[in-house]
Amino acid sequence: MQTFAEIATLREQIKQYKRDGRSIAFVPTMGNLHEGHLTLMRKAREHADIVVASIFVNPMQFERSDDLNNYPRTLEDDLSKLANEGIEIVFTPTPDVIYPNGTDKQSFVEVPGLSNILEGVSRPGHFRGVATVVTKLFNIVQPEVACFGEKDFQQLAVIQKMTEDLALDIKIVNVPTVREMDGLAMSSRNNLLTMDERQRAPVLARTMRWISSAIRGGRDDYASIIEDASDQLRAAGLQPDEIFIRDANSLGVVSTETTQVVILMSAFLGQARLIDNQVVDLTTDTKEEANVESSSESAE
Ligand code: PAF
Repeated sequence: MQTFAEIATLREQIKQYKRDGRSIAFVPTMGNLHEGHLTLMRKAREHADIVVASIFVNPMQFERSDDLNNYPRTLEDDLSKLANEGIEIVFTPTPDVIYPNGTDKQSFVEVPGLSNILEGVSRPGHFRGVATVVTKLFNIVQPEVACFGEKDFQQLAVIQKMTEDLALDIKIVNVPTVREMDGLAMSSRNNLLTMDERQRAPVLARTMRWISSAIRGGRDDYASIIEDASDQLRAAGLQPDEIFIRDANSLGVVSTETTQVVILMSAFLGQARLIDNQVVDLTTDTKEEANVESSSESAE
């Protein structure tokens, strides 16, 4: 495995691979790698000869400096996990390499209609920061394929639209969320939880499944579902941040045209802001879905 911190040397190696007729798949990360990231790496491997990963905690997508400073950084451990996965190249730039003139003077990419709604309202500038760094990394790595997790549902929608709008010749592959045995979505932020908080954290996924069952059971009084769900989170000691029930394709409000809704949830627990999401297909037979739900609950 080769590790590059500079753009020029990374580009040279990638050009060499391309001259040799090798295809490139890319997985951008902010490090603190867990099984969810490694699943992205394995998916990338299915799509190309060479897998390039990046590890860069992107200052442009953090609105709060304490959040940026607290973000877990575990480079050595990350590199050994990537080496075990047989990753060919890891790009580990410093902020100066990505933003030589600082983030304020950086040209940016904005995805209208998606960047400033939902999570973008409470985190202004977040999706601009994500879209900008991903575009920049795409331009540096020049992959044919890039893999992103469905756990960051709005991020995935932003990246898909940006890729389409800017006619980037890159196939975006979305990879389902990887969960712990108790249902908690894997996330680098889980490392910020104390042992007691970790015990309580799966309530987020459980509450999401409760919302999903309510919708599949025919309820469409979304405001009161969200209120009940917030109460359930509070009762378990989580501080609800945002819960949205939206059209899964447009992220707009649910209408008579909607065939799939997405439940988007975030909550604070100690130092961590946990997020999760679930898509509910409104066209699927409710009874069948209910059976799947109860058998997956008993498996946990
Ligand atoms: O999902 C992440 O880890 C980050 O938002 C990404 C896509 C690597 C951009 O910094």
